[in-house]
Amino acid sequence: MAKRKQERRPSEPQDVPGIGQHLRKYHETKSGTIYLGDSRLLFEKHVRAESVDLIMTSPPFGLVRKKTYGNVDADAYLAWFKPFGEAFFRALKPSGSLVVDIGGAWIPGQPTRSLYHYELLVMLCRECGFHLAQDYFWWNPARLPTPAEWVTVRRVRVKDAVNCIWWLSKTPWPKASNRRVLVPYSDAMRDLLKNGYKAKRRPSGHDISKKFSVDNKAAIPPNVIAVANTESNSQYLRYCLENGLHAHPARFPADIPEYFIRMLTDPKDLVIDPFAGSCVTGEVAERLRRRWICGEIIEDYLKGAVARFRKPFDAQRSLFSISPIKKSKSITYKLWHPAGIWGDSDETPLAQDGGKTRPLNRQ
Ligand SMILES: C[S@@+](CC[C@H](N)C(=O)[O-])C[C@H]1O[C@@H](n2cnc3c(N)ncnc32)[C@H](O)[C@@H]1O
Repeated sequence: MAKRKQERRPSEPQDVPGIGQHLRKYHETKSGTIYLGDSRLLFEKHVRAESVDLIMTSPPFGLVRKKTYGNVDADAYLAWFKPFGEAFFRALKPSGSLVVDIGGAWIPGQPTRSLYHYELLVMLCRECGFHLAQDYFWWNPARLPTPAEWVTVRRVRVKDAVNCIWWLSKTPWPKASNRRVLVPYSDAMRDLLKNGYKAKRRPSGHDISKKFSVDNKAAIPPNVIAVANTESNSQYLRYCLENGLHAHPARFPADIPEYFIRMLTDPKDLVIDPFAGSCVTGEVAERLRRRWICGEIIEDYLKGAVARFRKPFDAQRSLFSISPIKKSKSITYKLWHPAGIWGDSDETPLAQDGGKTRPLNRQ
């Protein structure tokens, strides 16, 4: 069996300065506070047990990508994350949720993937006490075909276009409603509602009753969220540009925290983002009238983040534009059925070494 590429490294998944050294209030609004410093201190000093409704966050997986050489580093990541996992569990109300957006990572030098984000999920459930309420996948249709070496040069892998989003809960019964995140009906469903549907049993055994012909005005979404991460003209970006600040390099689009804040919390509930970066979560929580706390360890990221809380907010959407259907930006992304051009696909024999040898002619 081929030996896996691994390199033993000490437990040091953090590159950021001042871990555990400092924590201070950086900015305050009517509903929220940004703290500068290590979020472990934030949870120790400022977050009471069983006081939080939602922890919505995207941890620093970019650092892992730089350093991952297989499972050894995944272990280091877990060791780093565990105190956070324990603190998050303690802080959440029994009805509360932890939502973690986490990107996967390639093992450097070979076309295989790290398991670290799956191991994180298992650790959070097995060792910290969380339940997996649901696993989500955020599909970013604007992702570039990377890593180029495997995807566009050797052509042995496909574009990696999803992030995992782990929705975890403190008990099996976190508060939640899918009515808050409905989507417009598909054309096929609209036709069906217009032309009627004959109730019958499907080959799978599911009984499709007449209830499926009831027009509920909107559809229950799947656990795949399609959002292109292509923000280009926000108040935040304009502020960064005008003030010579670097925009945070790993922001998630506001629609990601908005989805979970809407589905899992009510107005005035408390939302925390412990790895806040440019404070997208705080901005959304402020707009949706939730109380919120953001923690970030690198001050440069917060210099731009404060622009999110200057009036007027980007008035693209407001809490009171109410109907989910009206609010929808009616954006649909196309995902082809894989059989789209099967008949015309390249029949050149597959490279027996799995693409280990770089092709001479790039195609
Ligand atoms: C993936 S980024 C989050 C980006 C954010 N979701 C946004 O949209 O702007 C993760 C952030 O966690 C911060 N971070 C890492 N370790 C931390 C710690 N111990 N306490 C607070 N923040 C930390 C990093 O500096 C980084 O900005």
